[in-house]
Amino acid sequence: MTYTDKDNKYKRYCVTSALPYANGPIHIGHMAGVYIPADIYCRYLRLMGEDVLFIGGSDEHGVPVTIRAKKEGCTPQDVVDRYHGIIKKSFEEFGTSFDIYSRTTSKMHEETATEFFKKLYESGKFIEQTTQQFYDEKEKTFLADRYVTGTCPICGNERAYGDQCEACGSSLNATDLKNPKSALSGNEPVLKETKHWFLPLNDYEEFLKKWILEGHKEWKSNVYGQCKSWLDNGLQPRAVTRDLDWGIKVPVEGGEGKVLYVWFDAPIGYISNTKEHTSDWEKWWKSEDTKLVHFIGKDNIVFHCIVFPAMLKAEGSYILPQNVPANEFLNLEGDKISTSRNWAVWLNEYLEDFPGKQDVLKYVLCANAPETKDNDFTWKDFQTRNNSELVAILGNFINRTIVLTHKFFEGKVPQVNELNDLDKATIAEISTYPEKIGTLIENYKFRDALFEMMNLARLGNKYLTENEPWKTFKTDVARTETVLNISLQICANLAVLSEPFVSFAAKKLQNMLNMSPMAWYEAGNVSLLETGKQINAPELLFEKIEDEMIQKQLDKLEESKKQNAINNASVEPQKENISFDDFGKMDIRLGTILAAEKVAKTKKLLKLTVDTGIDQRTIVSGIAEYYTPEQVVGKQVAVLVNLAPKELKGIQSQGMILMAENADGELSFMQPEKIFKNGSTIR
Ligand code: 2FM
Ligand code: ZN
Repeated sequence: MTYTDKDNKYKRYCVTSALPYANGPIHIGHMAGVYIPADIYCRYLRLMGEDVLFIGGSDEHGVPVTIRAKKEGCTPQDVVDRYHGIIKKSFEEFGTSFDIYSRTTSKMHEETATEFFKKLYESGKFIEQTTQQFYDEKEKTFLADRYVTGTCPICGNERAYGDQCEACGSSLNATDLKNPKSALSGNEPVLKETKHWFLPLNDYEEFLKKWILEGHKEWKSNVYGQCKSWLDNGLQPRAVTRDLDWGIKVPVEGGEGKVLYVWFDAPIGYISNTKEHTSDWEKWWKSEDTKLVHFIGKDNIVFHCIVFPAMLKAEGSYILPQNVPANEFLNLEGDKISTSRNWAVWLNEYLEDFPGKQDVLKYVLCANAPETKDNDFTWKDFQTRNNSELVAILGNFINRTIVLTHKFFEGKVPQVNELNDLDKATIAEISTYPEKIGTLIENYKFRDALFEMMNLARLGNKYLTENEPWKTFKTDVARTETVLNISLQICANLAVLSEPFVSFAAKKLQNMLNMSPMAWYEAGNVSLLETGKQINAPELLFEKIEDEMIQKQLDKLEESKKQNAINNASVEPQKENISFDDFGKMDIRLGTILAAEKVAKTKKLLKLTVDTGIDQRTIVSGIAEYYTPEQVVGKQVAVLVNLAPKELKGIQSQGMILMAENADGELSFMQPEKIFKNGSTIR
């Protein structure tokens, strides 16, 4: 029984966490948004004695995997094998307490997803529609939206993808793009008819409205709000198949060359992974006394609140989620986390750079979790929270208490003598924590829950400081005994109540205190450690993080920034600053080209006669690949007139014509917007 389920309605908790795409490692955004809250929730429920199944796994289908494989010149299976391995290992090392972490390329998943699709197909839950889709005639394949690039109809970005423009963030259909090009061949794709199966979400609109908008007003406002906006706009049929050769084959007639849409098969992965974990899987998915909770990021809301529930409803034998506590996004040092720009803190790299510091990252990402709005991770904040919270508050309190117990009482829990008012008030306060923290966790308020856990450590520090047992020992041993007993009891309470948040430290603390495992609801009192019990030697739970370690991480990010500037070929990095005087030395004028001829035996040079307003002079210009002599005569252009004269191919050139140059090296004149007299200055 939990604090918010007083009627004991739920006998078990089926907790899913979004299956990460196996096309790259996991970063802190994923951890803060999904896996840390889910892990805290599950660890807490287990301590409450609940029956919990925590499901994870890799999402291994979909176009991003095939794109990565193409880029790397390997097969999609190679890509997912590699990243599934990396992701699974990072989760293990990080201590994420999955009961199962499997993958959507498993046999079990193929069977489960196939069966699910067939059941919907056979019971007439799909509609078939023929649509027009881009096709690459050279590569002989239909193109997923992501495989088409072109000009964004909204902002004009020439490198927009068919599903999304990354410059303006608009979501698009490939057919919206201007000048569409196939990302495979670079050719212009053609539209071709193709048949697909659609789930008519519109048929489930009324049910979803009732279920979410009336039945789940308690959902987080960001989740409820997004659902409401989808439902208010009206739902459309959604294609659940794709023309692609990577994925689960469409198992019905006419499905040749097609696969299930990745967003159709991925959430079924939660079910497949449960089946892989236990043959008694149905109780987790088909029993009304199971509470199903999906932990996801905000970009997954529509799939988990609208599409997947509609699929489950269509199938008919499954329960629906009771809650979908989606988080917002985490930024990094003020910028959006981005895999392609390598702007991220990768979990596997963190584990290498900060060995043994899983709890620190978990703590910081929970304390600063994007629960209600997007948040920013900074390395400075990471350091501050470690040094002034974990070390200075939690670690310090525990260390002081255990050191003093060894110093004064040979490491044995001293007895309690007469209690004064402060003791009684402190004991009363201790008793409030299990329910206070537990209720916050049950309501998905993990930041607040963590803050309360730290308040218990703050209470301990305050109690020690006010009672000064290191002073009273000389004058009043009985008082010292009581104070250290109560302080040790606070440590023992922390050993239980901190476990969901900082599980490695909690385990260490339990060992130091020689405690056997204890349930959450057994905490909240001062009888957790019996008098006379021998405790172990103190060990530091947290250590200070020095500036150098932080600087190393900041340097790493700086390096990514530099690399991006280089990779971003369309824009040259900015040159060093110059003074106004430096600029003022250049004398730039408007001039008109009066005559032009090719310079013999060169490909690039034109000899120009230019009226600069000051004089008529000869300028040799490297523009012949882009302009013929006939095209340039009569043009008014920008001329740098005080450039030192130079001889080119035996001709004295007196100045330079200014040109704009794009990333491909193409040249274009700089012309005034209005015709001014030759010799007018440009500044
Ligand atoms: O957004 C993502 O990373 C998806 N791979 C999440 C899938 S969640 C579930 F449906 F499997
Ligand atoms: Zn755009």
